[in-house]
Amino acid sequence: MAAALKVLQVAAEVFPLVKTGGLADVVAALPPALAAAGADVRLVLPGLPAILDGVLSARHVLDVGPCFGALRVSLLLGRMPGTGLPVYVIDAPHLYRRGGGPYQDSLGREWPDNLQRYGLLGWLAARIASGDADPAWVPDIVHAHDWHAAMACTYMADHVPTAAKSVYTIHNLAYQGLFPHDDWALLGLSSRYMVPSGLEFHGQLSFMKAGLKFAHRITTVSPNYAHEIATPEFGCGLDGVIRGRVNDVLGIVNGIDTEVWNPAADDAIAHRYDLNQLAGKRECRHALQDEWKLQRDDQALLVVVVSRLTGQKGIDLLLEAVPGLVADGMQVAVQGTGDAALETALRRAEQAHPGRVAAHLGYDEPRAHALVAGADVIAVPSRFEPCGLTQLYGLRYGTVPVVRRSGGLADTVVDDQTGFVFDAANAGALRHALNRAAAMRSTQPAKWQKLMLAGMEQDLSWRLPAARYMDLYRALIPAQSVPT
Ligand code: ADP
Ligand code: GLC
Repeated sequence: MAAALKVLQVAAEVFPLVKTGGLADVVAALPPALAAAGADVRLVLPGLPAILDGVLSARHVLDVGPCFGALRVSLLLGRMPGTGLPVYVIDAPHLYRRGGGPYQDSLGREWPDNLQRYGLLGWLAARIASGDADPAWVPDIVHAHDWHAAMACTYMADHVPTAAKSVYTIHNLAYQGLFPHDDWALLGLSSRYMVPSGLEFHGQLSFMKAGLKFAHRITTVSPNYAHEIATPEFGCGLDGVIRGRVNDVLGIVNGIDTEVWNPAADDAIAHRYDLNQLAGKRECRHALQDEWKLQRDDQALLVVVVSRLTGQKGIDLLLEAVPGLVADGMQVAVQGTGDAALETALRRAEQAHPGRVAAHLGYDEPRAHALVAGADVIAVPSRFEPCGLTQLYGLRYGTVPVVRRSGGLADTVVDDQTGFVFDAANAGALRHALNRAAAMRSTQPAKWQKLMLAGMEQDLSWRLPAARYMDLYRALIPAQSVPT
Protein backbone atom coordinates (compact mmCIF):
# COMPACT_ATOMS: atom_id res chain seq x y z
CA MET A 1 0.00 0.00 0.00
CA ALA A 2 1.36 3.43 -0.94
CA ALA A 3 2.13 5.82 1.90
CA ALA A 4 -0.42 8.51 2.77
CA LEU A 5 0.10 12.03 1.47
CA LYS A 6 2.00 13.96 4.14
CA VAL A 7 0.70 17.48 4.71
CA LEU A 8 2.13 20.09 7.08
CA GLN A 9 -0.26 22.92 8.05
CA VAL A 10 1.49 26.14 9.13
CA ALA A 11 -0.45 28.76 11.08
CA ALA A 12 -0.31 31.26 13.93
CA GLU A 13 -3.57 30.40 15.66
CA VAL A 14 -5.78 27.38 16.30
CA PHE A 15 -9.10 26.98 18.10
CA PRO A 16 -9.53 26.45 21.03
CA LEU A 17 -6.00 27.40 22.13
CA VAL A 18 -5.45 30.76 20.41
CA LYS A 19 -8.13 32.49 18.38
CA THR A 20 -8.54 36.01 17.02
CA GLY A 21 -10.93 35.10 14.20
CA GLY A 22 -12.09 32.53 11.68
CA LEU A 23 -8.52 31.49 10.82
CA ALA A 24 -8.31 29.61 14.13
CA ASP A 25 -11.53 27.72 13.38
CA VAL A 26 -10.20 26.70 9.95
CA VAL A 27 -6.83 25.58 11.31
CA ALA A 28 -8.59 23.46 13.93
CA ALA A 29 -11.08 21.77 11.62
CA LEU A 30 -9.43 21.42 8.20
CA PRO A 31 -6.55 19.14 9.36
CA PRO A 32 -8.79 16.42 10.89
CA ALA A 33 -10.97 16.54 7.77
CA LEU A 34 -7.85 16.00 5.63
CA ALA A 35 -6.87 13.13 7.92
CA ALA A 36 -10.33 11.62 7.46
CA ALA A 37 -9.75 11.92 3.70
CA GLY A 38 -6.60 9.81 4.07
CA ALA A 39 -3.80 12.36 4.54
CA ASP A 40 -1.06 12.12 7.15
CA VAL A 41 -1.43 15.63 8.62
CA ARG A 42 0.64 17.60 11.10
CA LEU A 43 0.57 21.22 12.20
CA VAL A 44 3.34 23.59 13.12
CA LEU A 45 2.51 26.45 15.49
CA PRO A 46 4.43 29.13 17.38
CA GLY A 47 4.92 28.30 21.06
CA LEU A 48 2.60 30.97 22.44
CA PRO A 49 1.80 30.32 26.13
CA ALA A 50 -1.69 28.91 25.45
CA ILE A 51 -0.28 26.59 22.79
CA LEU A 52 2.54 25.32 25.05
CA ASP A 53 -0.01 24.79 27.82
CA GLY A 54 -2.66 23.17 25.64
CA VAL A 55 -0.66 20.77 23.45
CA LEU A 56 -0.53 17.29 24.95
CA SER A 57 2.52 15.06 25.58
CA ALA A 58 5.01 17.37 23.91
CA ARG A 59 8.47 15.84 23.46
CA HIS A 60 11.67 17.43 22.30
CA VAL A 61 12.59 16.92 18.62
CA LEU A 62 15.41 19.37 17.91
CA ASP A 63 17.56 22.04 19.46
CA VAL A 64 17.56 24.70 16.80
CA GLY A 65 20.07 26.99 18.50
CA PRO A 66 20.02 30.79 18.47
CA CYS A 67 18.12 32.39 15.58
CA PHE A 68 15.83 35.33 14.78
CA GLY A 69 17.13 37.12 17.87
CA ALA A 70 16.16 34.28 20.20
CA LEU A 71 18.92 32.55 22.11
CA ARG A 72 17.05 29.35 22.79
CA VAL A 73 14.81 27.81 20.12
CA SER A 74 13.66 24.24 20.08
CA LEU A 75 11.15 22.16 18.17
CA LEU A 76 8.68 20.03 20.11
CA LEU A 77 6.20 17.45 18.87
CA GLY A 78 2.95 16.81 20.72
CA ARG A 79 -0.73 16.25 20.03
CA MET A 80 -3.66 18.60 19.62
CA PRO A 81 -6.22 18.34 22.42
CA GLY A 82 -9.45 16.87 21.11
CA THR A 83 -8.37 15.62 17.69
CA GLY A 84 -5.05 14.12 18.81
CA LEU A 85 -3.39 15.31 15.59
CA PRO A 86 0.40 15.59 15.75
CA VAL A 87 1.56 19.18 16.17
CA TYR A 88 5.05 20.68 16.10
CA VAL A 89 5.45 23.58 18.48
CA ILE A 90 8.30 26.06 18.16
CA ASP A 91 9.47 26.90 21.64
CA ALA A 92 11.29 30.24 21.49
CA PRO A 93 10.70 31.85 24.90
CA HIS A 94 12.18 35.21 23.94
CA LEU A 95 9.82 35.55 20.96
CA TYR A 96 6.64 33.77 21.98
CA ARG A 97 6.30 33.40 25.75
CA ARG A 98 4.49 36.60 26.67
CA GLY A 99 0.95 37.79 27.44
CA GLY A 100 -1.28 39.65 24.96
CA GLY A 101 -2.40 38.28 21.59
CA PRO A 102 -0.57 36.51 18.78
CA TYR A 103 -0.01 39.69 16.75
CA GLN A 104 -0.56 42.51 19.24
CA ASP A 105 0.02 43.28 22.88
CA SER A 106 -2.88 43.62 25.31
CA LEU A 107 -3.29 47.30 24.33
CA GLY A 108 -3.69 46.46 20.65
CA ARG A 109 -0.20 47.54 19.54
CA GLU A 110 1.56 45.34 16.97
CA TRP A 111 4.41 43.41 18.55
CA PRO A 112 7.56 45.23 17.39
CA ASP A 113 9.29 41.90 16.66
CA ASN A 114 6.57 40.30 14.53
CA LEU A 115 9.06 39.98 11.69
CA GLN A 116 11.25 37.71 13.82
CA ARG A 117 8.24 35.90 15.36
CA TYR A 118 6.70 34.94 12.05
CA GLY A 119 9.97 34.77 10.12
CA LEU A 120 10.92 31.98 12.51
CA LEU A 121 7.60 30.19 11.99
CA GLY A 122 8.09 30.16 8.21
CA TRP A 123 11.78 29.28 8.40
CA LEU A 124 11.28 26.32 10.70
CA ALA A 125 8.33 25.07 8.62
CA ALA A 126 10.67 25.14 5.61
CA ARG A 127 13.29 23.17 7.57
CA ILE A 128 10.66 20.53 8.34
CA ALA A 129 9.81 20.56 4.62
CA SER A 130 13.41 19.94 3.66
CA GLY A 131 13.67 16.97 6.01
CA ASP A 132 16.30 18.77 8.02
CA ALA A 133 14.37 19.37 11.25
CA ASP A 134 12.66 16.00 11.64
CA PRO A 135 14.00 13.38 9.18
CA ALA A 136 11.43 10.93 10.56
CA TRP A 137 8.57 12.85 8.93
CA VAL A 138 9.07 14.82 5.72
CA PRO A 139 5.94 16.39 4.22
CA ASP A 140 4.92 16.23 0.55
CA ILE A 141 2.90 19.45 0.95
CA VAL A 142 3.35 22.50 3.14
CA HIS A 143 0.11 24.47 3.48
CA ALA A 144 0.69 27.96 4.91
CA HIS A 145 -2.14 30.16 6.18
CA ASP A 146 -2.09 33.97 5.92
CA TRP A 147 0.93 36.27 6.11
CA HIS A 148 2.04 34.83 9.46
CA ALA A 149 3.01 31.56 7.77
CA ALA A 150 3.80 32.90 4.29
CA MET A 151 7.59 33.03 4.71
CA ALA A 152 7.55 29.22 4.64
CA CYS A 153 6.91 29.45 0.87
CA THR A 154 9.90 31.73 0.27
CA TYR A 155 12.30 29.79 2.49
CA MET A 156 11.24 26.60 0.69
CA ALA A 157 11.85 28.23 -2.70
CA ASP A 158 15.25 29.38 -1.45
CA HIS A 159 16.26 25.83 -0.54
CA VAL A 160 16.29 24.22 -3.96
CA PRO A 161 16.67 20.56 -2.89
CA THR A 162 13.31 20.74 -1.06
CA ALA A 163 10.92 18.35 -2.81
CA ALA A 164 7.79 19.42 -0.90
CA LYS A 165 5.33 21.74 -2.68
CA SER A 166 3.78 24.77 -1.06
CA VAL A 167 0.16 25.93 -0.94
CA TYR A 168 -0.64 29.37 0.44
CA THR A 169 -4.13 30.30 1.59
CA ILE A 170 -5.17 33.95 1.78
CA HIS A 171 -7.72 34.30 4.56
CA ASN A 172 -7.67 38.08 4.43
CA LEU A 173 -5.64 40.14 1.97
CA ALA A 174 -6.14 43.27 4.08
CA TYR A 175 -3.66 42.04 6.70
CA GLN A 176 -0.33 41.82 4.90
CA GLY A 177 2.51 41.66 7.40
CA LEU A 178 4.40 44.77 6.24
CA PHE A 179 7.77 45.62 7.81
CA PRO A 180 10.39 48.33 7.35
CA HIS A 181 12.68 47.72 4.38
CA ASP A 182 15.83 47.68 6.49
CA ASP A 183 14.61 44.84 8.71
CA TRP A 184 15.09 42.69 5.65
CA ALA A 185 18.55 41.64 6.82
CA LEU A 186 17.02 39.80 9.81
CA LEU A 187 15.51 37.17 7.50
CA GLY A 188 18.87 35.80 6.33
CA LEU A 189 17.81 35.66 2.68
CA SER A 190 19.73 36.82 -0.37
CA SER A 191 18.99 40.39 -1.49
CA ARG A 192 17.74 39.07 -4.82
CA TYR A 193 14.42 38.41 -3.03
CA MET A 194 14.05 42.03 -1.89
CA VAL A 195 12.85 43.35 -5.25
CA PRO A 196 9.37 44.27 -6.57
CA SER A 197 9.10 40.85 -8.25
CA GLY A 198 9.86 39.36 -4.82
CA LEU A 199 8.99 40.52 -1.31
CA GLU A 200 9.40 44.26 -1.77
CA PHE A 201 6.12 46.20 -1.70
CA HIS A 202 6.32 49.96 -2.25
CA GLY A 203 9.53 50.29 -0.31
CA GLN A 204 8.46 47.91 2.45
CA LEU A 205 8.92 44.23 3.10
CA SER A 206 5.72 42.19 2.62
CA PHE A 207 5.19 38.75 4.14
CA MET A 208 1.95 38.45 2.15
CA LYS A 209 4.05 38.64 -1.03
CA ALA A 210 6.28 35.88 0.31
CA GLY A 211 3.27 33.60 -0.18
CA LEU A 212 1.80 35.19 -3.29
CA LYS A 213 5.09 35.14 -5.20
CA PHE A 214 6.62 31.85 -4.10
CA ALA A 215 3.88 29.36 -3.23
CA HIS A 216 3.31 26.69 -5.87
CA ARG A 217 -0.44 27.28 -5.55
CA ILE A 218 -2.55 29.98 -3.93
CA THR A 219 -6.03 29.52 -2.54
CA THR A 220 -8.59 31.90 -1.12
CA VAL A 221 -11.44 30.94 1.17
CA SER A 222 -14.17 31.46 -1.45
CA PRO A 223 -14.27 31.60 -5.27
CA ASN A 224 -15.91 35.02 -5.26
CA TYR A 225 -13.13 36.49 -3.11
CA ALA A 226 -10.59 35.00 -5.55
CA HIS A 227 -12.23 37.08 -8.31
CA GLU A 228 -12.58 40.17 -6.15
CA ILE A 229 -8.93 40.35 -5.11
CA ALA A 230 -7.88 40.39 -8.76
CA THR A 231 -9.52 43.85 -9.00
CA PRO A 232 -8.15 47.19 -7.73
CA GLU A 233 -11.20 47.63 -5.47
CA PHE A 234 -10.44 44.59 -3.31
CA GLY A 235 -6.83 43.85 -4.24
CA CYS A 236 -5.29 45.96 -1.43
CA GLY A 237 -2.57 47.02 -3.87
CA LEU A 238 -1.79 43.39 -4.74
CA ASP A 239 -4.38 42.81 -7.47
CA GLY A 240 -1.64 42.93 -10.12
CA VAL A 241 0.28 40.21 -8.28
CA ILE A 242 -2.88 38.10 -8.03
CA ARG A 243 -3.65 38.59 -11.73
CA GLY A 244 -0.08 37.56 -12.51
CA ARG A 245 -0.83 34.18 -10.95
CA VAL A 246 -4.35 33.76 -12.24
CA ASN A 247 -3.79 30.13 -13.26
CA ASP A 248 -2.51 29.22 -9.81
CA VAL A 249 -5.30 30.79 -7.73
CA LEU A 250 -8.26 28.72 -6.58
CA GLY A 251 -11.19 29.55 -4.29
CA ILE A 252 -12.42 26.87 -1.88
CA VAL A 253 -15.24 27.83 0.48
CA ASN A 254 -14.52 27.03 4.14
CA GLY A 255 -16.44 24.37 5.97
CA ILE A 256 -17.38 24.52 9.63
CA ASP A 257 -16.76 22.15 12.50
CA THR A 258 -20.17 20.50 12.62
CA GLU A 259 -19.40 18.95 16.01
CA VAL A 260 -18.47 22.22 17.70
CA TRP A 261 -21.40 23.95 15.97
CA ASN A 262 -24.26 21.51 16.37
CA PRO A 263 -27.60 22.68 17.81
CA ALA A 264 -28.50 19.08 18.58
CA ALA A 265 -25.55 18.62 20.95
CA ASP A 266 -24.50 22.09 22.05
CA ASP A 267 -23.78 22.50 25.77
CA ALA A 268 -23.72 26.28 25.48
CA ILE A 269 -27.36 26.74 24.45
CA ALA A 270 -30.48 26.76 26.64
CA HIS A 271 -32.24 23.93 24.82
CA ARG A 272 -30.95 21.65 22.10
CA TYR A 273 -32.82 21.29 18.84
CA ASP A 274 -32.50 19.98 15.31
CA LEU A 275 -34.37 20.20 12.05
CA ASN A 276 -36.93 17.63 13.13
CA GLN A 277 -37.53 19.23 16.49
CA LEU A 278 -37.34 23.01 16.33
CA ALA A 279 -39.22 23.70 19.58
CA GLY A 280 -35.98 24.11 21.55
CA LYS A 281 -35.02 27.10 19.44
CA ARG A 282 -37.88 29.05 20.99
CA GLU A 283 -36.48 28.38 24.44
CA CYS A 284 -33.08 29.52 23.24
CA ARG A 285 -34.77 32.76 22.11
CA HIS A 286 -36.34 33.37 25.50
CA ALA A 287 -33.10 32.57 27.30
CA LEU A 288 -31.27 35.02 25.07
CA GLN A 289 -33.84 37.75 25.62
CA ASP A 290 -33.67 37.25 29.39
CA GLU A 291 -29.89 37.03 29.56
CA TRP A 292 -29.41 40.10 27.36
CA LYS A 293 -32.23 42.08 29.05
CA LEU A 294 -34.30 42.26 25.88
CA GLN A 295 -38.10 42.28 26.16
CA ARG A 296 -39.77 38.90 25.76
CA ASP A 297 -41.34 39.99 22.51
CA ASP A 298 -42.25 37.04 20.30
CA GLN A 299 -43.22 39.23 17.38
CA ALA A 300 -39.90 41.05 17.07
CA LEU A 301 -37.38 39.93 14.48
CA LEU A 302 -34.39 39.17 16.74
CA VAL A 303 -31.22 40.11 14.87
CA VAL A 304 -27.75 39.22 16.16
CA VAL A 305 -24.17 39.93 15.12
CA VAL A 306 -21.03 38.14 16.37
CA SER A 307 -18.01 39.89 14.99
CA ARG A 308 -14.68 41.58 15.29
CA LEU A 309 -15.52 45.28 15.39
CA THR A 310 -13.56 46.66 12.44
CA GLY A 311 -14.29 48.66 9.30
CA GLN A 312 -14.36 45.41 7.30
CA LYS A 313 -17.44 44.16 9.10
CA GLY A 314 -19.83 47.03 8.34
CA ILE A 315 -20.82 47.49 11.99
CA ASP A 316 -21.14 51.22 11.29
CA LEU A 317 -23.92 50.42 8.79
CA LEU A 318 -25.73 48.48 11.45
CA LEU A 319 -25.32 51.29 13.98
CA GLU A 320 -26.71 53.79 11.51
CA ALA A 321 -29.65 51.48 10.82
CA VAL A 322 -30.43 50.78 14.50
CA PRO A 323 -32.99 53.57 15.17
CA GLY A 324 -34.91 52.51 12.05
CA LEU A 325 -34.73 48.83 12.96
CA VAL A 326 -36.07 49.56 16.43
CA ALA A 327 -38.84 51.67 14.89
CA ASP A 328 -39.61 48.70 12.62
CA GLY A 329 -40.12 46.56 15.75
CA MET A 330 -36.87 44.57 15.67
CA GLN A 331 -34.47 43.64 18.46
CA VAL A 332 -30.71 43.76 17.94
CA ALA A 333 -27.98 42.04 19.99
CA VAL A 334 -24.30 42.42 19.14
CA GLN A 335 -21.28 40.65 20.60
CA GLY A 336 -17.88 41.88 19.54
CA THR A 337 -14.58 43.50 20.38
CA GLY A 338 -12.38 45.86 18.46
CA ASP A 339 -12.39 49.53 17.47
CA ALA A 340 -12.97 51.71 20.51
CA ALA A 341 -15.26 54.07 18.56
CA LEU A 342 -17.51 51.19 17.48
CA GLU A 343 -17.58 49.81 21.02
CA THR A 344 -18.64 53.20 22.38
CA ALA A 345 -21.30 53.60 19.69
CA LEU A 346 -22.72 50.16 20.46
CA ARG A 347 -22.86 50.96 24.16
CA ARG A 348 -24.71 54.19 23.34
CA ALA A 349 -27.18 52.36 21.08
CA GLU A 350 -27.91 49.95 23.92
CA GLN A 351 -28.53 52.85 26.33
CA ALA A 352 -30.74 54.63 23.81
CA HIS A 353 -32.95 51.58 23.22
CA PRO A 354 -33.29 49.60 26.46
CA GLY A 355 -34.99 46.26 25.98
CA ARG A 356 -34.56 46.48 22.20
CA VAL A 357 -30.80 46.73 21.66
CA ALA A 358 -28.08 44.93 23.64
CA ALA A 359 -24.31 44.85 23.29
CA HIS A 360 -21.70 42.59 24.83
CA LEU A 361 -18.27 44.07 24.27
CA GLY A 362 -16.22 41.01 24.93
CA TYR A 363 -15.00 37.77 23.47
CA ASP A 364 -16.97 34.79 24.71
CA GLU A 365 -17.29 31.52 22.81
CA PRO A 366 -20.27 29.96 24.69
CA ARG A 367 -22.19 33.24 24.53
CA ALA A 368 -21.63 33.31 20.76
CA HIS A 369 -23.31 29.90 20.53
CA ALA A 370 -26.25 31.04 22.67
CA LEU A 371 -26.62 34.16 20.56
CA VAL A 372 -26.65 32.26 17.27
CA ALA A 373 -29.10 29.68 18.63
CA GLY A 374 -31.56 32.19 20.07
CA ALA A 375 -31.84 34.58 17.13
CA ASP A 376 -34.09 34.71 14.08
CA VAL A 377 -31.45 36.35 11.94
CA ILE A 378 -27.67 36.67 11.94
CA ALA A 379 -26.57 39.81 10.12
CA VAL A 380 -23.23 40.07 8.30
CA PRO A 381 -23.14 43.50 6.60
CA SER A 382 -19.43 43.29 5.71
CA ARG A 383 -17.81 45.67 3.24
CA PHE A 384 -15.65 42.74 2.19
CA GLU A 385 -15.61 39.20 3.52
CA PRO A 386 -13.15 36.56 2.24
CA CYS A 387 -15.43 33.76 3.44
CA GLY A 388 -17.18 34.53 6.71
CA LEU A 389 -18.09 31.81 9.16
CA THR A 390 -20.89 33.28 11.26
CA GLN A 391 -23.38 33.13 8.38
CA LEU A 392 -22.52 29.40 8.11
CA TYR A 393 -23.10 28.98 11.85
CA GLY A 394 -26.43 30.73 11.30
CA LEU A 395 -27.40 28.32 8.52
CA ARG A 396 -26.55 25.36 10.73
CA TYR A 397 -28.67 26.74 13.61
CA GLY A 398 -31.74 27.70 11.56
CA THR A 399 -30.82 31.36 12.11
CA VAL A 400 -31.40 33.03 8.80
CA PRO A 401 -28.38 34.96 7.45
CA VAL A 402 -28.87 38.48 6.13
CA VAL A 403 -25.63 39.34 4.35
CA ARG A 404 -24.03 41.78 1.96
CA ARG A 405 -23.30 40.41 -1.50
CA SER A 406 -19.56 40.28 -0.99
CA GLY A 407 -16.82 37.64 -1.04
CA GLY A 408 -17.80 34.34 0.51
CA LEU A 409 -21.09 35.75 1.77
CA ALA A 410 -22.31 35.83 -1.84
CA ASP A 411 -21.09 32.26 -2.36
CA THR A 412 -22.77 30.81 0.71
CA VAL A 413 -26.16 32.53 1.05
CA VAL A 414 -28.85 32.31 -1.65
CA ASP A 415 -31.33 35.16 -1.56
CA ASP A 416 -34.86 34.05 -0.76
CA GLN A 417 -33.72 30.40 -0.52
CA THR A 418 -31.41 30.21 2.48
CA GLY A 419 -31.23 33.86 3.54
CA PHE A 420 -31.36 37.46 2.35
CA VAL A 421 -28.67 39.22 0.35
CA PHE A 422 -28.33 42.96 -0.21
CA ASP A 423 -25.98 44.91 -2.46
CA ALA A 424 -25.27 48.47 -1.42
CA ALA A 425 -22.95 49.04 1.55
CA ASN A 426 -25.33 51.38 3.31
CA ALA A 427 -27.73 51.38 6.23
CA GLY A 428 -30.80 51.68 4.00
CA ALA A 429 -30.00 48.52 2.05
CA LEU A 430 -29.35 46.60 5.27
CA ARG A 431 -32.61 47.83 6.79
CA HIS A 432 -34.52 46.91 3.64
CA ALA A 433 -33.10 43.37 3.66
CA LEU A 434 -33.91 42.93 7.37
CA ASN A 435 -37.45 44.11 6.69
CA ARG A 436 -37.79 41.55 3.92
CA ALA A 437 -36.83 38.93 6.50
CA ALA A 438 -39.23 40.35 9.09
CA ALA A 439 -42.08 40.40 6.57
CA MET A 440 -41.54 36.79 5.56
CA ARG A 441 -41.34 35.67 9.18
CA SER A 442 -44.59 37.38 10.16
CA THR A 443 -46.70 36.96 7.01
CA GLN A 444 -45.38 33.73 5.47
CA PRO A 445 -44.41 31.54 8.44
CA ALA A 446 -44.38 28.35 6.34
CA LYS A 447 -41.99 29.88 3.84
CA TRP A 448 -39.86 31.22 6.69
CA GLN A 449 -39.62 27.77 8.21
CA LYS A 450 -38.71 26.33 4.81
CA LEU A 451 -35.88 28.85 4.58
CA MET A 452 -34.63 27.90 8.05
CA LEU A 453 -34.73 24.21 7.22
CA ALA A 454 -33.01 24.73 3.86
CA GLY A 455 -30.00 26.09 5.77
CA MET A 456 -30.08 23.39 8.42
CA GLU A 457 -30.18 20.65 5.79
CA GLN A 458 -27.01 21.79 4.03
CA ASP A 459 -23.78 19.86 4.36
CA LEU A 460 -21.57 22.64 5.72
CA SER A 461 -18.92 20.27 7.05
CA TRP A 462 -15.31 20.16 5.94
CA ARG A 463 -15.85 16.92 4.01
CA LEU A 464 -16.23 18.52 0.56
CA PRO A 465 -13.70 21.35 1.00
CA ALA A 466 -11.16 18.85 2.35
CA ALA A 467 -11.66 16.70 -0.76
CA ARG A 468 -10.94 19.75 -2.92
CA TYR A 469 -7.74 20.52 -1.02
CA MET A 470 -6.72 16.87 -1.40
CA ASP A 471 -7.21 17.15 -5.19
CA LEU A 472 -5.15 20.32 -5.22
CA TYR A 473 -2.33 18.72 -3.20
CA ARG A 474 -2.27 15.60 -5.35
CA ALA A 475 -2.13 17.63 -8.54
CA LEU A 476 1.10 19.19 -7.27
CA ILE A 477 2.93 15.92 -6.74
CA PRO A 478 4.72 14.39 -9.75
CA ALA A 479 2.56 11.58 -11.13
CA GLN A 480 5.02 8.74 -10.42
CA SER A 481 5.21 9.60 -6.74
CA VAL A 482 1.62 10.46 -5.81
CA PRO A 483 0.94 8.90 -2.41
CA THR A 484 -2.66 7.92 -1.69
P1 ADP B 1 -13.05 36.95 10.81
O1 ADP B 1 -12.12 35.80 10.75
O2 ADP B 1 -12.83 37.94 9.71
O3 ADP B 1 -13.12 37.59 12.14
P2 ADP B 1 -15.14 34.92 10.48
O4 ADP B 1 -16.60 35.06 10.33
O5 ADP B 1 -14.43 34.05 9.52
O6 ADP B 1 -14.54 36.39 10.51
O7 ADP B 1 -14.78 34.29 11.89
C1 ADP B 1 -15.02 34.93 13.09
C2 ADP B 1 -14.95 33.90 14.19
O8 ADP B 1 -14.73 34.56 15.41
C3 ADP B 1 -16.24 33.13 14.34
O9 ADP B 1 -15.95 31.84 14.88
C4 ADP B 1 -17.00 33.97 15.36
O10 ADP B 1 -17.97 33.24 16.04
C5 ADP B 1 -15.86 34.38 16.26
N1 ADP B 1 -16.07 35.63 17.00
C6 ADP B 1 -15.89 36.89 16.56
N2 ADP B 1 -16.11 37.78 17.55
C7 ADP B 1 -16.45 37.05 18.64
C8 ADP B 1 -16.80 37.38 19.99
N3 ADP B 1 -16.83 38.64 20.41
N4 ADP B 1 -17.09 36.36 20.83
C9 ADP B 1 -17.04 35.07 20.41
N5 ADP B 1 -16.72 34.71 19.17
C10 ADP B 1 -16.42 35.68 18.29
C1 GLC C 1 -10.48 35.73 7.63
C2 GLC C 1 -11.63 36.38 6.91
C3 GLC C 1 -12.93 35.61 7.03
C4 GLC C 1 -12.71 34.12 6.89
C5 GLC C 1 -11.65 33.66 7.86
C6 GLC C 1 -11.38 32.16 7.79
O1 GLC C 1 -10.34 36.15 8.94
O2 GLC C 1 -11.82 37.73 7.31
O3 GLC C 1 -13.83 36.06 6.04
O4 GLC C 1 -13.92 33.43 7.12
O5 GLC C 1 -10.45 34.32 7.59
O6 GLC C 1 -10.98 31.76 6.50
